[in-house]
Amino acid sequence: MARPKEKINTLIGHEELQKRIKELANEISRDYEGRDLLLIGVLKGSFMFLADLIRELDYTVAVDFMGTYSYGASTQSSGEVRITKDLEQSVSGRHVLLVEDIVDTGLTLRYLVDTLRARQPASLKVCALLDKPARRRARIGLDYYGFIIPNAFVVGYGLDYQEKYRGLPYVGVLEEEEQQKTE
Ligand code: IMP
Repeated sequence: MARPKEKINTLIGHEELQKRIKELANEISRDYEGRDLLLIGVLKGSFMFLADLIRELDYTVAVDFMGTYSYGASTQSSGEVRITKDLEQSVSGRHVLLVEDIVDTGLTLRYLVDTLRARQPASLKVCALLDKPARRRARIGLDYYGFIIPNAFVVGYGLDYQEKYRGLPYVGVLEEEEQQKTE
C-alpha cells in the first residue's frame, strides 16, 4: 500500500488553515465578548479544528461534544443521521456555538440545530471549517465558515476516509484510485 502523501492532493495547507482559524477566532471573540460561550464540537471530525480554534480565542469558553454518524464505509452520505454521543451539559439559557468540520448535504447540521434549538439555548450559531455547497440537501445557514470547497471527498485535519487520514495536518482530496480500491 502506498503512503498517504502519494494518494492525497493538498487542498488547504497547514499554514492557510491556521491563518483562517485565527481570523475566525478573532471574529468569534469579538461577537461574544462579555458573554459566556459554550462550544459544542461535532465528533469525530471537528476535534482538531475545535482544539486549534479554542486556543486562538481571547477568553475561556466551556466545551462539550456531540457525536453523530452519517456515513457508512463509502464516501456518499446515507442521508441518515444518528446521535452516537449526547451532551454532558445543559444548553438551556446558554450561548451555544456548534463547531462542525464540514457541511456537505447539510442533513447532519440541520438535525443537530433542530435538536439543540428544542433545548432552548439563549442563542445558537454554527461555525464550520469547510463548506461544500454543491450537494446541499437541507437549507442551513452558516454563521462562520472557514473555506468553501469544491465537490470532492476531502480528508485530513480531523476528517477521515474509513477512519484513515484524520491526523494529516492539512486538508487534502482523496484520489479516485484510492477510493475505488478500498470500497
Ligand atoms: P452532511 O450531513 O452530508 O452535511 O455531512 C456531514 C458529515 O459527513 C461531516 O460532519 C463529516 O463527518 C462527513 N463528511 C462530509 N463530507 C466529507 C468529506 O469530504 N470528507 C470526510 N467526511 C465528510
